[in-house]
Amino acid sequence: MVKHVTANGVRLAVLDRGQGRAIVLLHGFPLDHTMWRHQVEMLSGQYRVIAPDLRGFGASEAIPGTAAMEDLADDTSALLDALEVRQPVVLCGLSMGGYVAWEMVRKYAWRLSALVLCDTRSQPDTPAAANGRLETAQRVLTEGMGSLAESMLERLLAPSTRERQPELAQGLREVMARTKPEGAAAALRGMAARRDATPLLPTIVVPTLVLCGVHDAISPPGEMQAMAAAIPGARWVPIPDAGHMAPCENPHAVNRALGDFLASL
Ligand code: MLT
Repeated sequence: MVKHVTANGVRLAVLDRGQGRAIVLLHGFPLDHTMWRHQVEMLSGQYRVIAPDLRGFGASEAIPGTAAMEDLADDTSALLDALEVRQPVVLCGLSMGGYVAWEMVRKYAWRLSALVLCDTRSQPDTPAAANGRLETAQRVLTEGMGSLAESMLERLLAPSTRERQPELAQGLREVMARTKPEGAAAALRGMAARRDATPLLPTIVVPTLVLCGVHDAISPPGEMQAMAAAIPGARWVPIPDAGHMAPCENPHAVNRALGDFLASL
């Protein structure tokens, strides 16, 4: 069931389903919690699954300006307070959700019992990439989400997924098109300014699973494997037949890796 909760002063939509150990799923850009539907389906029989729409996305409030990754971590921690989650959680983030996870590690490590990092990266943007994001932020505010949605789709999914699962591409296109331009622009500015999380990697002490679609063009598997190697004891699982959106493109393989990891905790 999706409900609305005010956390850190922001009205957030959150799917909160199931009981038991809490697992928090943080979506990528410019999407919403529905990207986790296959994981929610599998996990909510055994766990409490908490999947928010981050500020500015889905049915959550957009705050114009900049949504720093730290702001999104503050929202997430406040959301857990509002939902009365007191035990440490398993935190799972995809791409931008992973950038938020780094800020949770920095600021709210006591909230975490394990980490799952999907199709994400620890390095900050290059100056050129950051400038590109600032231009895109301006463009979505003047022109809307249409052209960003089309250019993102090209990079989010493996070519074979676009061919074999056109309904998945269409569903993501619709979610992106519905995203509020102010929300997307704020997150683009926040991602452009994000800090380097690479120095954090050797300090991570909770069990960690690193997943990546083998055809991921945004956070390439070689880079993610090196990231996993820098996290003490991290488990590395490449996901076949998938690009950047591995949990949607190959849910069976992602769910198996998640299930095995959670059973090992
Ligand atoms: C995402 O999937 O969240 C984005 O690709 C992240 C990014 O643009 O760096």
